[in-house]
Amino acid sequence: MKGAIFCGYAEFIEQNHGLMTWLEIIDKSELATSSSFIATELYDDNILVELLTITSDILGVTVSEILTSFGKILFPKLMEAAKHHVDKCDNIFDFLDHVENVIHIEVKKADPLAYTPSLILDKISNNKLLLKYTSHRQVCFLAEGLIYGAANHFNQQVTIEHISCTHQGDKHCLMKVTTD
Ligand code: HEM
Repeated sequence: MKGAIFCGYAEFIEQNHGLMTWLEIIDKSELATSSSFIATELYDDNILVELLTITSDILGVTVSEILTSFGKILFPKLMEAAKHHVDKCDNIFDFLDHVENVIHIEVKKADPLAYTPSLILDKISNNKLLLKYTSHRQVCFLAEGLIYGAANHFNQQVTIEHISCTHQGDKHCLMKVTTD
């Protein structure tokens, strides 16, 4: 996974729980070799899984809750790198389409080793969209947090319902996104 995600995670923990908590997480990690990450480097996915598990033990919150909160904070940082792509988007549904069909494709063009999830969208009405998330990383709750972050960017309120989830034994991960 891209170092940018790890840099965002370090910032998220430091800002919300303090530097000492971040250093404690790193001390307990067997896979992380340093408390600093380089945004452009690629790191083993297992490092993030381990950091999330340690964070969950220390803070007493579930990994899915951590991922959703992290996604909300990560979104504006990712958006910094994609501002020039989204001039034409003025709402969350058009933007999600743009993420799948432009932004994540550009990410992979810029770095062929980058891996982004597949987000299949089905707009079922003006204010409801089904989103099928697929990735071997299975971080659908990070996607959920990013969508909340994106809605905030467009000054929209959304509710996200996980209709089915691979973490619950379902064959795929499907979310219903509703705007107010
Ligand atoms: C609501 C909007 C977005 C959603 C739902 C979304 C979803 C995700 C998720 C869930 C991941 C984690 C990897 C995985 O699931 O396998 C990811 C990775 C990533 N996304 Fe997005 N994303 C969004 C917007 C953006 C934006 C605006 C950028 C800006 C360039 C971006 C760039 C990236 C990059 C660089 C990665 C890491 C790739 C890697 O580790 O190889 N995303 N995205």
